[in-house]
Amino acid sequence: MRTIFKETVTWVHHWNDHLFSFRTTRDPAFRFENGEFTMIGLQIDDKPLMRAYSVASANYEDHLEFFSIKVPDGPLTSHLQNLKVGDKLLVNSKPTGTLLVDRLLPAKRLYIIATGTGLAPFLSIIRDPHTYELFEEVIVAHGVRRVSALAYKEMITEQLPKHEYLGDIIGPKLRYYPTVTREPHPNQGRITDLIVSGKLFADLDVPQANPQDDRFMICGSMALNKDMIEILTERGFTESRRGKQAHFVTERAFVQQTT
Ligand code: A2P
Repeated sequence: MRTIFKETVTWVHHWNDHLFSFRTTRDPAFRFENGEFTMIGLQIDDKPLMRAYSVASANYEDHLEFFSIKVPDGPLTSHLQNLKVGDKLLVNSKPTGTLLVDRLLPAKRLYIIATGTGLAPFLSIIRDPHTYELFEEVIVAHGVRRVSALAYKEMITEQLPKHEYLGDIIGPKLRYYPTVTREPHPNQGRITDLIVSGKLFADLDVPQANPQDDRFMICGSMALNKDMIEILTERGFTESRRGKQAHFVTERAFVQQTT
């Protein structure tokens, strides 16, 4: 049976004018797989207003974390962005989703391809020791418009490799490739263009992606997902369907410009 948990906000962080993250308490009965999403929201005018959000915290943590854009007139995010510690958040008890590492066939390398808040589901996946049992290398490619949108950079490059318990597992395998499209940055351009030109692989000093060695998990705008599916399909990769293992999985980043 579906339940709506009423959690309490414990932490809020604003990355810039457009992006923020927040944490809440977690009902012990709320169970999820790393990479899944659930409906969350607020009670507005006595009615629950809920939207799909990926869980950004790992499933072994005792809090929940979410990563969101702020849409000035968005029905939900215009309220969510004002969340304060102590406020209540509604969380649907039934998470779901396709961004699961076990949907991928065994291989050497995992590419995580995310734009904007599409990074959220991968924040739980890269904190999961199971991910590192499956792959020799885990490469996080995060594409954003501006440098200030490279949220979680420090967590990926500093905190996780030095993590008290997981650092030895994560440190040697996790790699980070941020790229920025509308401001100067050492890596520039859309992830899709960097894949097609081969620059991403050259910069990482790895072979061009191929279906034998490489797997992809993709989460971003509809346009990114469509372009990535085309690029990978042309190269012989197949998408996981109905839970069957394949070469890549995709999911749309839910919180879009209108929410
Ligand atoms: P661009 O600046 O060239 O539009 P958004 O903030 O709109 O979600 O975009 C996040 C990042 O995703 C931006 O760097 C944007 O590049 C990039 N992007 C948008 N559409 C695509 C696409 N179809 N393929 C690859 N990257 C994309």
